[in-house]
Amino acid sequence: MSAGLLDIAGLNRHFPIRNVWGRRTGWLRALDGVSLSIARGEILGIVGESGCGKSTLGKTVAGIHPPTSGSVHFEGHEIATLSPSAGRAVRRNLQYCYQDPGASLDPRWKIGRSLEEPLIVHTDMGGAERRARVLETLRAVNLPERHLELYPHEISGGQQRRVGLARILMLRPSLVILDEPTSGLDVSVQAVVLNLLLELREKFDLTYVFISHDLSVVRLFSQRIAVMYLGRVVEIGATEAVFAAPAHAYTQSLLAAVPIIGGRRVVDNFVLEGEPPSAGNVPAGCRFAPRCPRADGRCRAEDPPATMMDDGRLVNCHHPAG
Ligand SMILES: Nc1ncnc2c1ncn2[C@@H]1O[C@H](COP(=O)(O)OP(=O)(O)O)[C@@H](O)[C@H]1O
Ligand SMILES: [Mg+2]
Repeated sequence: MSAGLLDIAGLNRHFPIRNVWGRRTGWLRALDGVSLSIARGEILGIVGESGCGKSTLGKTVAGIHPPTSGSVHFEGHEIATLSPSAGRAVRRNLQYCYQDPGASLDPRWKIGRSLEEPLIVHTDMGGAERRARVLETLRAVNLPERHLELYPHEISGGQQRRVGLARILMLRPSLVILDEPTSGLDVSVQAVVLNLLLELREKFDLTYVFISHDLSVVRLFSQRIAVMYLGRVVEIGATEAVFAAPAHAYTQSLLAAVPIIGGRRVVDNFVLEGEPPSAGNVPAGCRFAPRCPRADGRCRAEDPPATMMDDGRLVNCHHPAG
């Protein structure tokens, strides 16, 4: 077994599909055998089309959804099967951050109270210690002390986002799952948020899972990248290696859809056609075969296992490029 900070193996999360009378007619396989590891201090990017299971992966790992089956090993504990109460202590170190963490602040509470609350609930810190931790965290997200006395509606959306981030960091987690942290922001604001995230990572020794559908942001920000398709990781490896020579046909087509300014595209490639099939009706064989220009009879019959390439990359494909 690898000794990453987080090791996920064969993780499944299936949602029931019901007809109008409430009868279950099938299963939607939002996560369908996800395996990956993350080393301490790393930033792992997760990319893939909308609906491929990125958020479900983040929420299942963080314990917001129970997994259907599979293993989640975090800091030496198997957490997929822990009861909610036993899991709570372990999960303090593992935080999931919604796209806009500021939106979940309680509008009736002053910022200071919102920040202090996780410490009251989860620690036995005294008042002075809590106050010191609140101040330190507020400063780390570059907000002034006077904000502690303000209500969420009295500060800007960008400042609310910083407070939300500070709240997530109050218990000093080791792993933070950032779900689309820059989507919906102007490019200039995106840069500010990304820089802040990098500063916080330095200051608090954080490991990030960085979920985004924006490949150019992921390329800048993450050292490794996992490409998801229909609930499965289909390619995972060093970001530069994947961008330089994507091996899975799906990764190739995703990258071909990213505009490159002032340069020729490395992959001279086809563009993805059609919508991804529904996670309620995953194709037999390789799940990408119906959209894949390289697919043959074997691809339509056999689900490809993860194969290791020369550079250590894992690719689920019968005919990887390179
Ligand atoms: N609570 C839920 N109940 C039923 N289906 C869900 C639920 N959450 C997500 N799904 C389905 O699971 C699939 C993956 O969704 P999601 O993880 O949100 O994708 P992404 O974040 O990559 O856009 C989608 O088909 C979505 O409709
Ligand atoms: Mg999502």
